[in-house]
Amino acid sequence: MSKIRSNKATITRRWLINNIGVIGIFLIMLLIAASGFINLYYSNSATQYITSRMSTISGLLQQYYTDDPAVFSSEVRSIVQEWSDKNLSELMTIRSDGTVSMTSSGFMPDKQLLAQDYYDAVSGGTTGFFRGKLPDGERIIAVSLVTPDTTGEYNVIRIVSSLDKVYRRINSYILIASLMCLSVLMLVFFSGMYFVKSIVIPVNQISATAGRYAKGDLSVRIPVKSDDEIGELCSIINKMADELSQSEAVKNEFISSVSHELRTPLTAIKGWAETIGAMPDDSETVSKGMRVINSETERLSQMVEDLLDFSRMQNGKFTLNKINVDILAELSDAVLIYQEKARQEGIELVYAEPSSLPIVYGDRNRLRQVFINVIDNALKYTERGGLVTVQTSLTPDDRIEIDVTDNGCGISSEDLPKIKTKFFRANHIKRGSGIGLAVADEIMTLHDGSLDVFSEQGVGTSVIISLPIVNASKALQK
Ligand SMILES: Nc1ncnc2c1ncn2[C@@H]1O[C@H](COP(=O)(O)OP(=O)(O)OP(=O)(O)O)[C@@H](O)[C@H]1O
Ligand SMILES: [Mg+2]
Repeated sequence: MSKIRSNKATITRRWLINNIGVIGIFLIMLLIAASGFINLYYSNSATQYITSRMSTISGLLQQYYTDDPAVFSSEVRSIVQEWSDKNLSELMTIRSDGTVSMTSSGFMPDKQLLAQDYYDAVSGGTTGFFRGKLPDGERIIAVSLVTPDTTGEYNVIRIVSSLDKVYRRINSYILIASLMCLSVLMLVFFSGMYFVKSIVIPVNQISATAGRYAKGDLSVRIPVKSDDEIGELCSIINKMADELSQSEAVKNEFISSVSHELRTPLTAIKGWAETIGAMPDDSETVSKGMRVINSETERLSQMVEDLLDFSRMQNGKFTLNKINVDILAELSDAVLIYQEKARQEGIELVYAEPSSLPIVYGDRNRLRQVFINVIDNALKYTERGGLVTVQTSLTPDDRIEIDVTDNGCGISSEDLPKIKTKFFRANHIKRGSGIGLAVADEIMTLHDGSLDVFSEQGVGTSVIISLPIVNASKALQK
């Protein structure tokens, strides 16, 4: 049981590693790449925006710098006051002493904002650019430009934009993307778990049921809940259990019928032996008893032979002693054996004996055994007053066909396909072990022949035995 549970865990674990693991890693990589890309995109566009705005201002200042200083100052003021992107950035002017003289928002900054861009611009570069953190940790992007102002009031014009807002927006995008990835992962996980469970639970059930079969309990069946591969597997296992219990039942019945078959002649033998022992001088009783003992012993040994044949057949040790056989003699012998029995039972046994039959290459005794088994069945399953005919014919494809037909009880179409199966008996009224036809069929197969049964319940049965004949040249060689 512990092994079964660990198997279940393995399938689930394997699925988790293979699917969720791979999808999870892929989503994390996607997230990292996307956040890197968003970051780059926003900081690039902020840089682009601020530098393009500054180049517009620089163009304007180029136009104004020849004007009168007072006019120039008012023009600079109007640029700052009319700054349209107030919520994105701030435009300011800085005096030559480094203090702020004017801002687009109208408020003076409450902290020191000067950074590397300003110092680069005033120390001779005319322009400077800065992207980074101020001492208080705020991230900014700034660009400074030295103006041609002569009053010292508007020495530098500067655009400053806080990146904190941008980073906050980037972080919220990343958070949304992460939540989306997480929900995709959850969706895959739950739908996958549902799928895995739909396999693992029935597999577990199958294992538990198979375990009970292994212990010999064939009464349980697995409920078939789906018509997919798992459902098919359940139906096949159920069918297997049906077959196993059926063959178990057939075997048990075989044992009881064989025991019964063995007991009946033994009882007769024992009874007659006791009778003879009690009346050894009654010659009539002695001779009758001896006759019965003889025939019952014969029957017993025949049964034991049949069982031995059958077990040899099962072990693959059933071998034939093949020679050229006069098949007509063997068939006539078999019919002759049953003539007397047929008369006693009031059944007409008609034998259309042909003048000759070709030679057959095979085992004499085994072929005779086949005829005996088939004629025995015909008489056994035919009532008093019935008719059994034995006919022979030659087919165009060089085969001999022997047809044993009776007008007895017949076999139902349901039982007919199983008739040659070992231990199978369709008729439980008559005595038998159910191996006669199985052995006969095996013998015919070993002779490249066939044994076919045609029957209709209540009408009668025909058994057709077909054997290949040996042609003249072959017959001489053998
Ligand atoms: N001629 C027949 N007419 C009706 N039923 C037949 C005939 N031949 C065979 N059967 C059916 O086929 C079953 C199998 O035959 P088979 O010869 O193998 O076994 P059996 O006659 O019962 O036992 P055994 O021959 O081993 O003593 C029989 O039990 C019987 O029901
Ligand atoms: Mg039989």
